[in-house]
Amino acid sequence: MLKEKSVTKYIIKSPLNYIGGKAKILNQILPLFPKKINNFIDLFAGGFNVGINVNAEKFFCNDNLTFLIDMFKEFKEVELEDSVYHIEKRIERFKLSQTNQNGFIEFRKFYNKTKQPLDLFVLIAYSFNHQIRFNNNHEFNNPFGKNRSCFNETMKLNLERFIIKIKKMEIEFSNKCFTEFDFTFLSEDDFVYCDPPYLITTGTYNDGKRGFKGWSTKEEIALLKTLDKLTKANVKFALSNVLEHKGKSNEILKDWVNSNSNYQINTIDFNYSNSNYQTIIRDKKSSKEVLITNYQPLITKQKSLFDEIYEDYEIYR
Ligand SMILES: C[S@@+](CC[C@H](N)C(=O)[O-])C[C@H]1O[C@@H](n2cnc3c(N)ncnc32)[C@H](O)[C@@H]1O
Repeated sequence: MLKEKSVTKYIIKSPLNYIGGKAKILNQILPLFPKKINNFIDLFAGGFNVGINVNAEKFFCNDNLTFLIDMFKEFKEVELEDSVYHIEKRIERFKLSQTNQNGFIEFRKFYNKTKQPLDLFVLIAYSFNHQIRFNNNHEFNNPFGKNRSCFNETMKLNLERFIIKIKKMEIEFSNKCFTEFDFTFLSEDDFVYCDPPYLITTGTYNDGKRGFKGWSTKEEIALLKTLDKLTKANVKFALSNVLEHKGKSNEILKDWVNSNSNYQINTIDFNYSNSNYQTIIRDKKSSKEVLITNYQPLITKQKSLFDEIYEDYEIYR
């Protein structure tokens, strides 16, 4: 008989190469989540790397990027074979390849006119770094991923696994700004995960290039107030963020964590699996990734325990 520890738990990787996606550190953050979750809210879902891998009764997938949420809804509603067929037909019709820049440009124009949700996935497949970027007129404007991006086998496999899983989940989608999300139905067995744009890192989120205003101290403070309200209502939360990054320090966040003795900082090693020793030392000095919780995780990151947990998770490749 297999011993429990030797059973590998597979992590599903979102088919979207999402900026700030948490796929690489799921092994560290999932063990810090509560063991029993009734409603799970992924408030800033992005590539939905986190929600798709959580065990809960019911899921809420929210992001204010409407086109992204429309695509997830389509993944859920359309048969897997039909979605893959649609994607392959589009590739054929626009002769998309790693070298056909004109085909990509034509297809991007077509998407911006029609906004068919599955076409967004095809566009991402052939875009630079597979990234999602919209301008202020809500037009997809990421450039062509020349000689690099295409709908390859890995992407197809990740997509299929993602769709199969999402179809099994009881899930509600919404495209609200977090300030508009209704938390009033939540209680003590529910859990809100927040992975907002990070205030002190300069990603494309923060410069308004993705079709929304960006993330400033105003949004940061509003989010922290929302989390305080959840704490008062006895609802658990976890917030991903960085306290320090390349010489910058998020004083708002640090002051806020210190203001409540229930708030706990769990340090995350962002370079655990993908860097050599020297890089780890250098990057540790420049960035401090954390998961802030309003509860004491059952497993704290003591080295020996943590290493065992890490071994138990594997990312599908
Ligand atoms: C760091 S990403 C989330 C990545 C995700 N956890 C993953 O692993 O794939 C942050 C997300 O927050 C969304 N966002 C930004 N401002 C928001 C707001 N005011 N309300 C809701 N979502 C917002 C962005 O569209 C983006 O998808």
